[in-house]
Amino acid sequence: MAKSLPENVKVLKSLYEASEVINSIRDYNELLEKIMDITLNVLEAERGFLMILEDKKGEMKVEVARNFHKENIINSKEISMTSVYKALQDGEIVLTSDAKTDPRFSQSQSIALYNLRSILVVPLKRLNRVIGVIYIDTQTSKKIFSEEEVEFMNAFANLAVLSIENAKLTNSLAIENLTLKKEISSLYNFEDIIGTSKKMRDVLRLLEKVINSDVPVLLEGESGTGKGLIARAIHFNSPRKDKKFITQYCGALPETLLESELFGYVKGAFTGALTDKMGLFEAADGGTFFLDEVGDLSVSTQTKLLRVLQEHKIRRLGDTEDRNVDVRIISATNKILEDEVKKGTFREDLFYRLKVVKIVIPPLRERKEDIPILVKYLIHKLNGKNKNIEGVSNEAMAALLKYDWPGNIRELENVIQHAIVMAQNDIITIDDIPEEILNKRMIRREFYSKRLKDVEREHILNVLADNDYSRKKTAEILGISLRTLHYKLKEYNIERKNEKSEEEK
Ligand SMILES: Nc1ncnc2c1ncn2[C@@H]1O[C@H](COP(=O)(O)OP(=O)(O)OP(=O)(O)O)[C@@H](O)[C@H]1O
Ligand SMILES: [Mg+2]
Repeated sequence: MAKSLPENVKVLKSLYEASEVINSIRDYNELLEKIMDITLNVLEAERGFLMILEDKKGEMKVEVARNFHKENIINSKEISMTSVYKALQDGEIVLTSDAKTDPRFSQSQSIALYNLRSILVVPLKRLNRVIGVIYIDTQTSKKIFSEEEVEFMNAFANLAVLSIENAKLTNSLAIENLTLKKEISSLYNFEDIIGTSKKMRDVLRLLEKVINSDVPVLLEGESGTGKGLIARAIHFNSPRKDKKFITQYCGALPETLLESELFGYVKGAFTGALTDKMGLFEAADGGTFFLDEVGDLSVSTQTKLLRVLQEHKIRRLGDTEDRNVDVRIISATNKILEDEVKKGTFREDLFYRLKVVKIVIPPLRERKEDIPILVKYLIHKLNGKNKNIEGVSNEAMAALLKYDWPGNIRELENVIQHAIVMAQNDIITIDDIPEEILNKRMIRREFYSKRLKDVEREHILNVLADNDYSRKKTAEILGISLRTLHYKLKEYNIERKNEKSEEEK
């Protein structure tokens, strides 16, 4: 149909302006509002609403309404639902230029009642699927929607759908992050301790019980399981949270150095002790003291620590006086302290004092069901300024689930950090996962995928080769009769190799 150039140019111009606007909006609700307003403005309509098909329920929901009451629309007689259903069904624009004279609608109650004049219903289509509709109409004004305007709406609806789908995606991720946060924080308020497995829930439940008391807590767990994290969580959720939290690593430190750190010293206590110095226990007064790798303490230091626990007293090195300290002791070890006690390297009385409550933090391989939520959390935590990773591919997740994580969550954290850097786009794929993790997985997968028969055949061949193909010896080693061996050789099609050499034996 021939159209005058100016009209066409006008349509294009409006379209261009509209696309500029909606492209700049990422927020889902704001976007829908804007789409509605642009439609009303460009087409000079009086009323309008925008409905979106809800993915999950498959129901239409009115998201925006202008000069309508959102809540009443679907059952309302104020509008021509006939046109809405028609547009939904056919996926085509429904234009009624003059409702009163249109034979399709003239019987409709709504038109009769409300004096509708022109109605336009535009389906929002994505790949031939209707995901929503825009409805506009005019009543009192003389306005009738023109063909150019319909053309504008056709093109505009296409742009709008793309923006809506994009915003939906962003929106669902934002919601997901929010629910993730809620999910996490609702778990006993230990916001950074992620894990919903039974084993982690048990740990969190225990934590919940110990935070409000002063009892010493011993954290036992492999490296990277979160002992440091949990020690901090106990302190910062406890009544002592406004006082100091001091950590001292006890492994591989010379005894006097460690003791002067912990207990302080007086001037002249040893060469180099030029002034009095306060120790860390005193500095932590009123707060919490975290002794990391407590299993490495020397026996002399253990004795001094026992005094802190029993009498709440310390003595600075070289001093003659005791000082009172009020500290809560949390200790951690990746050794089994009980074994150290049996070996005689750890004082039994100290052990019992430290482990008034013992919390064993399970290794990640024993709670692999926590891996997906941890991965989600770590991506969220580690996404850099320029990265916006949204998740991991199924294949990559499968690889992460297969691996045994000897370095536990610290190792997982490193792998995710690495993958975020490597990722080409928004999703972490198997190519972004470090080789070692995949290799172990492959070796293992290959190993476990062998049929029992193949393993048996291979084993027989190996034993034969190791014993110069002597069947007698092989049968002996395998613990089977010579007859059974012969049977198996036949079954597995093992050549009577080196027959001669066997006969010679
Ligand atoms: N449940 C968890 N949820 C979230 N992050 C965790 C969790 N457990 C550990 N992490 C993170 O993993 C890393 C290692 O944890 P942490 O340093 O507390 O382990 P650790 O048991 O003290 O290890 P090590 O024995 O080697 O000192 C930290 O960055 C910590 O924040
Ligand atoms: Mg630690």
